[in-house]
Amino acid sequence: MLAYQLIERKRDGGRIAPGEWRDLITSYLRDGVTDAQMSALLMAIFFRGLDRDETVALTEAMLRSGASLDLSHLKVPRLDKHSTGGVGDKVSLVLAPLMASLGVAVPMMSGRGLGHTGGTLDKLESIRGFRTRLTLAETRAQVERIGCALIGQSDEIAPADRRLYALRDSTATVESIPLIAASIMSKKLAEGLTGLVLDIKRGSGAFLPTVERGLELAQVMVSLGHQHGVPVVALLTAMDRPLGRACGNALELEEAILALHGEGPPDLMRVTYALGAEMMVLGGVAPTRDAARRAMEVAISSGRAAERFRQVIEAQGGDPAVVEDPSRLPQGAECELFVAPRDGFVATVDPRRVGVGVIELGGGRSRPGDPIDHSVGFVIPVRPGDLVRKGEPMASIMARDAAGVEAGRRALRDAIVIADEAEYPLPLISHRVTLEGVMPYEGNEQVLEMAAQR
Ligand code: URA
Repeated sequence: MLAYQLIERKRDGGRIAPGEWRDLITSYLRDGVTDAQMSALLMAIFFRGLDRDETVALTEAMLRSGASLDLSHLKVPRLDKHSTGGVGDKVSLVLAPLMASLGVAVPMMSGRGLGHTGGTLDKLESIRGFRTRLTLAETRAQVERIGCALIGQSDEIAPADRRLYALRDSTATVESIPLIAASIMSKKLAEGLTGLVLDIKRGSGAFLPTVERGLELAQVMVSLGHQHGVPVVALLTAMDRPLGRACGNALELEEAILALHGEGPPDLMRVTYALGAEMMVLGGVAPTRDAARRAMEVAISSGRAAERFRQVIEAQGGDPAVVEDPSRLPQGAECELFVAPRDGFVATVDPRRVGVGVIELGGGRSRPGDPIDHSVGFVIPVRPGDLVRKGEPMASIMARDAAGVEAGRRALRDAIVIADEAEYPLPLISHRVTLEGVMPYEGNEQVLEMAAQR
């Protein structure tokens, strides 16, 4: 009865009180509310939205649906980074060991691919033997020992989000600001953090493509963190093209390893350093973002960050030798170059089409629980604005068979558009959002200038 009344009220634009959110979530987890009812409520929320108090209450109810990690005995700051989801986004794989090598504890909880976007857990599972399902006790012990654990959401943490996330994925209700904010923040607040940095994607490949909606999401999450005593900084970054060159699980892992060895593509490094600098300043391990950046460069050039990744892989049962020899990762049986069909400028590298292409190759799921092929995907070195000549290689397709190569070709033909005039992509990092408000991200001017000169 409770669920029926709440669906009806939300459908008609009413409010749900904090106690009602608690009862609803508790009842849902005990199967007193059916998936059909919850789906109807999610759709009503999608159209009607939630006000700030309702978003706080839903987040709180989801957070309290499970246990939290207690790392308060650690002397070091405990920070995490979360992205709202993108294509080719392997920042977490670089950032977590990098931060751990610089004295920040990183209990990083990540997800699997959602819609057209990839998931950090799937990428990590390209490493033979790597366990992403650690208990809270194991996570705690590992963070104490080596400063970092890369884990999935277990049944212990925010189980309500786990079920709601799957339901949203199958009912077209992912793209809702309060639902995304409550989903992400309920998990992050359960990690017992002293600070959180968010990478809010904007552009055609983001769940919320417009800058206005991205900024609104950022502000909601910054304020949710503040209400729980966790300072949050959000950066808005571009997802109108894939991040880095590799798209696909093992390929992205390999690119992350290269980045930890100092050979990452410039856009990936810029976003990684920008988010890392925020984490280090929030955690008090660097006085300024410039100092943080210098420390990160040293951690990479000295090999300390890569060594920390090796330790994390070893601790979680994976093959640590991949850090020195990424050819040990699964390799696609077929590899084919994709060449420019004509002279011109690269107008778009559509991240959605690339992400869907990875799924079509077998590297992502159409249904939850589907097995995935970690070896397949694309490497796309061209970026919007690049000048290409007919017949010049623009990308590589890694597939398991000839049918996969053909599917890959189709995806890239749709995704990479060549035009007579250059179009300028979104600035890689456009805004910085804190409790004080929204600021343009400094350093942008230089990027805009470079784009204008091309
Ligand atoms: N990532 C999450 O954890 N939740 C969402 O709703 C969207 C992206």
